[in-house]
Amino acid sequence: MNFKQEIQKRRTFGIISHPDAGKTTLTEKLLLFGGAIQEAGAVKSNKIKKGATSDFMEIERQRGISVATSVLAFYYKDKKINILDTPGHKDFAEDTFRTLTAVDSVIVVIDVAKGVEEQTEKLVEVCRMRNIPMIVFINKLDREGKDAFDLMDEVEQKLGLQVTPLSFPIGMGYDFKGIYNIYEKNILLFQGENKQQIQESRSFEDINSPELEQLIGGKAAQELREHLELVEGVYPPFDRAAYLAGTQQPVFFGSALNNFGVKELLDCFVEIAPTPRAKKSEERLVAAEEEKMTGFVFKIHANMDPKHRDRLAFVKIVSGTFERNKPYLHVRLGKSLKFSSPNAFFAEKKAIIDESFPGDIVGLHDTGNFKIGDTLTEGEELHYKGIPSFSPEHFRYINNADPMKAKQLAKGIDQLMDEGVAQLFTLELNGRKIIGTVGALQYEVIQYRLEHEYGAKCTYEPFPVHKACWVEPQDPSNEEYQEFLRVKQKFMARDKRGQLVFLADSAFSLQMTQQKYPSIRFHFTSEFN
Ligand code: G4P
Repeated sequence: MNFKQEIQKRRTFGIISHPDAGKTTLTEKLLLFGGAIQEAGAVKSNKIKKGATSDFMEIERQRGISVATSVLAFYYKDKKINILDTPGHKDFAEDTFRTLTAVDSVIVVIDVAKGVEEQTEKLVEVCRMRNIPMIVFINKLDREGKDAFDLMDEVEQKLGLQVTPLSFPIGMGYDFKGIYNIYEKNILLFQGENKQQIQESRSFEDINSPELEQLIGGKAAQELREHLELVEGVYPPFDRAAYLAGTQQPVFFGSALNNFGVKELLDCFVEIAPTPRAKKSEERLVAAEEEKMTGFVFKIHANMDPKHRDRLAFVKIVSGTFERNKPYLHVRLGKSLKFSSPNAFFAEKKAIIDESFPGDIVGLHDTGNFKIGDTLTEGEELHYKGIPSFSPEHFRYINNADPMKAKQLAKGIDQLMDEGVAQLFTLELNGRKIIGTVGALQYEVIQYRLEHEYGAKCTYEPFPVHKACWVEPQDPSNEEYQEFLRVKQKFMARDKRGQLVFLADSAFSLQMTQQKYPSIRFHFTSEFN
């Protein structure tokens, strides 16, 4: 198979949802249909269970699982499907944001009863900003839930999407009979009382045929016809170009737990989902079809075994063919590196591979060369964009609790920050270090890992900060900016890349500062130009 065919075969995507909407169940069912696993329950949930805040073994166990399920690859209908796992827990949202830089499309799972939830809103916003093609899967149709039209309205309004249903439920909850597949014009019905068995789906071109009554009964038939008429009147027809451009989102209905509507989703997905997309670098747009290999690190995972200090850097191949033992340029370090045992990921295992293609993820063993966002090329000075840091929600001073282990502590903090576990800010005034996180859970993870992996001990002290704002002066030499730096000296810090950050202690003080210094712009993300 030639290089272009390899690219055409690949579908790399992520599944996003609010916790409990059914992401893990759907992932598992996709793997089952893809023949990658033989039975349900084979893929363990990567969820941090509720109440796990101080259960370190649980955190470690979850880390283990999340390495194993970071990338799940399988073949379906001759397509290579790469599912990139995204943690659902909101304390790990930053991890999910970064993973979204490596996907070519996403499937958004929504619980039919709960509708659009907070975490879904945040994640979809990131995808919308980047015009990532999205398919919406409304799950748990076997339960009573919201009306399908109301739900699609909610999706449009809360998520700012333009939807068009490609399937439509016949009944719901107790009355849930099955699904009409608008895309393929066929009907899929449940069989038996327990809704566990699926009758063969059958083609149904003419919805007005009296056969429909025989199949689902008079009342349901009439209702379905009315609904489909309404769908046709209200929603635009599916337009693949609009879907690929991120301006239209097809919707599917089903029940992941009952295998219902999942195969239809997968069949449509492999047909319409994008092949590996071009990616912007600071210098230029790089197309997947370019012959020279380029890729970027979007995730770093520490080895679970403390005796082996190496880490696994996850690289998304953007263009060209990645080859084992071939030297590549690590652009940030200006260093040539070779990889003798790059890993590819499959549903239940990883394996050393000789080559990888655009859309694939390779896992590279790393002894400390990589940071999130690093670019690898065959020599070109490229810098991939789009892995910004967002303002953390929590801030604490970090102190050394064992003066004999200062070096270990510094190294541990450095490496954990490279992995993207949290963000480090260093105060300009006195050099004190502040750790910023998305969720409180990370503080415990950091403390635990510093002790168990680096032999260092730390304590925390509260540091009241409302938001970290990356500062952009109109003119760094003007009087206004100089005054701002003087007056706010106590609140100025550098992030890990050396960028200047204003740590606003309250929403009010931020507002006052913005008013007082109108020529300075304050950003909640590190990547603003
Ligand atoms: P998540 O990864 O998005 O957090 O959700 P997950 O798949 O773990 O699903 C959350 C719960 O919802 C699970 O139940 C799961 O069995 C259930 N679920 C998923 N899909 C469906 C569906 O189509 N219909 C119904 N009725 N339930 C569904 P749980 O009791 O929390 O977990 P478990 O003990 O079953 O693992």
